[in-house]
Amino acid sequence: MGAPYVVEFEIAKDDFLAAGEGSGSVKDTLKMLGIPSAVIRRAAIITYEAEMNLVIHGGGGVLKILISPEKVEIVARDDGPGIPDVELAMREGFSTAPDRIREMGFGAGMGLPNIKRNADSLEIESAVGVGTTLTASIDLSGEGGPA
Ligand SMILES: Nc1ncnc2c1ncn2[C@@H]1O[C@H](COP(=O)(O)OP(=O)(O)OP(=O)(O)O)[C@@H](O)[C@H]1O
Ligand SMILES: [Mg+2]
Repeated sequence: MGAPYVVEFEIAKDDFLAAGEGSGSVKDTLKMLGIPSAVIRRAAIITYEAEMNLVIHGGGGVLKILISPEKVEIVARDDGPGIPDVELAMREGFSTAPDRIREMGFGAGMGLPNIKRNADSLEIESAVGVGTTLTASIDLSGEGGPA
């Protein structure tokens, strides 16, 4: 097994204009690498939701995508406020997004559940006042259909 192909993006806090660029270019990279389109679709959803959470909640951070023959792994890391209760944050409809964010159409509390649905595995490590690392992966060994 060789080293994974890695793409990395710095995601700035509150930069809604640039947000979505990461997930867009990941799509192109996966396509170039010949990843099946069903997997690309799932990876794009995960990357987009993770990226938006870095922008809105994490105070910015780093988004990293690692592609190997076995899996596509998406890692979103920030040094933001952290998540006090990850289980609660994972629930559909749970959101701490303030009104100004909701007015922009975010804050439905569907990002993390959407990531979970589209990933074969999901891990969230978070500490209040320290930051959050989300690691989601999609297996490439199976048929790659929607989860
Ligand atoms: N990187 C993060 N740092 C701190 N808190 C986070 C982070 N990611 C998620 N959260 C917390 O988890 C909650 C749920 O996240 P989720 O993505 O499911 O919903 P949302 O971002 O509020 O709304 P939506 O994704 O539907 O626009 C957030 O409202 C926030 O409180
Ligand atoms: Mg979200």
